[in-house]
Amino acid sequence: MVQIGAVILAAGKGTRMHSDKPKVLQTLLDEPMLGYVAQALLPLFGSAVWAVIGHGAEQVRAAFPDAPWHYIVQEQQLGTGHALLQALPAVQQAQCQRVLVVNGDTPLIAAPLLQHFMQQAGDADIAFATIELHNPAAYGRVVRHPDGSIAAIVEAKDYDEAVHGSPTGEVNAGVYFIKTELAATLLPQIRCANKSGEYYLTDMVALAVAAGLRVVGVPCGCDSSLFGINSPEELARSEATLRSRIAHYVLDSGVIMHAPESIIIGPYVTIEPGAELWGPLEIYGKSHIARGARVYSHCVLRDSVVHGGAVVKNFSHLEQAVVGECALVGPYARLRPGAVLDEGSHVGNFVELKKTYLGKGAKANHLSYLGDAHIGQGTNIGAGTITCNYDGKNKFATTIGEHAFIGSNTALVAPVSVGAGALVGAGSVITRDVPEGQLGIARAKQANLPRKIK
Ligand code: UD1
Ligand code: CA
Repeated sequence: MVQIGAVILAAGKGTRMHSDKPKVLQTLLDEPMLGYVAQALLPLFGSAVWAVIGHGAEQVRAAFPDAPWHYIVQEQQLGTGHALLQALPAVQQAQCQRVLVVNGDTPLIAAPLLQHFMQQAGDADIAFATIELHNPAAYGRVVRHPDGSIAAIVEAKDYDEAVHGSPTGEVNAGVYFIKTELAATLLPQIRCANKSGEYYLTDMVALAVAAGLRVVGVPCGCDSSLFGINSPEELARSEATLRSRIAHYVLDSGVIMHAPESIIIGPYVTIEPGAELWGPLEIYGKSHIARGARVYSHCVLRDSVVHGGAVVKNFSHLEQAVVGECALVGPYARLRPGAVLDEGSHVGNFVELKKTYLGKGAKANHLSYLGDAHIGQGTNIGAGTITCNYDGKNKFATTIGEHAFIGSNTALVAPVSVGAGALVGAGSVITRDVPEGQLGIARAKQANLPRKIK
């Protein structure tokens, strides 16, 4: 069986993005570009995937701490041909006789399209995917002989109608399928005598033709999956395409979506049929929305789980939070990492939770900050309650037992605990534990004095 490897060219700076971030870390639906390309390749190539990185290499590595693919560093970004040359020794060592090469700035690419392309490529020595564009912009132009066979790929900057004839609109998509040993022979022959002074991978095509090798251009229509991203405008366009693709897929699967055109769902989000969403809405990361959950407009969810029957009302922000069955959140709630709401609990307006467990049926309905806290089942947290969890250096925990009642405007100075069934008087500053079933009250006694009138 022929061993095939895949190389992602991802070392470039992305000058046209005008950003300090390496281009392959620019995001679509909150996920970096390189991840999309890798996700398309992994099912086909398993561990035989190499990403050539260079500009901001450490940032790229850090963005994918558990990457199942390998990295090759291209210290100086001298062009796409030079980039592939850096990866070849690893590909050869892995005994891959053929290599699929993909530009890292083509995030909409998907495994079925790549499979189709490789099938069409057949036994060609070098094959590349082509797309048909009305405005070929900066893409490399495909030049064919009168009999339709491939002559060359000529980069936009170097295209000269007098030499190459009038362009046809057929351009190079930046996806190649190459016999590894031929790449090893041809890549070192590439020169950088062009307008960019770079070693163009695309020059390998004319070299292969001159050597009498079988070179095939596989037309892939005007498939937007093959669009490269070089500018903020192209990024926005591809992101819009992807957003709409995902929204259609989710709708189709049986999720009820109001104003779906304004709902943004990340590629790794899972939503069960029978969930209901209202746009505008953003759901990112590895979030999961269960059947029967409702999420209203203007919410932002990131890596959060909403269980069945739960309702997340408008303008709530959730990050690494879990909303239990039939729990109510918002409007205007903020659930930060580690917020866990058990079944039937309520978190109301202007309530912030961080690393806090709210027990079954417990309620914190108004204007509170609960951090590093464990709150028992059925407990009521009065309006304006604050856990004072930070002394300027360290964080401390607050524990509140079941069926306790915390009066409004209470400050719980952690570390502190309030026992089950205890009551805390409104306006208290609680610095000592309140035992189970007792009333804790810590505030100045009210005095009513005769009023002095000047
Ligand atoms: C490239 C192709 C062009 C094709 C287009 C499709 C070349 C010379 N041109 O042009 O024919 O139509 O893609 O989208 O290949 N990179 C490196 N190291 C480098 C330079 C680039 O890894 O030294 C990476 C970039 O990070 C990028 C990819 O290679 O992901 C393509 O580079 P880019 O500069 O975007 O090439 P284009 O001008 O778009
Ligand atoms: Ca590009």
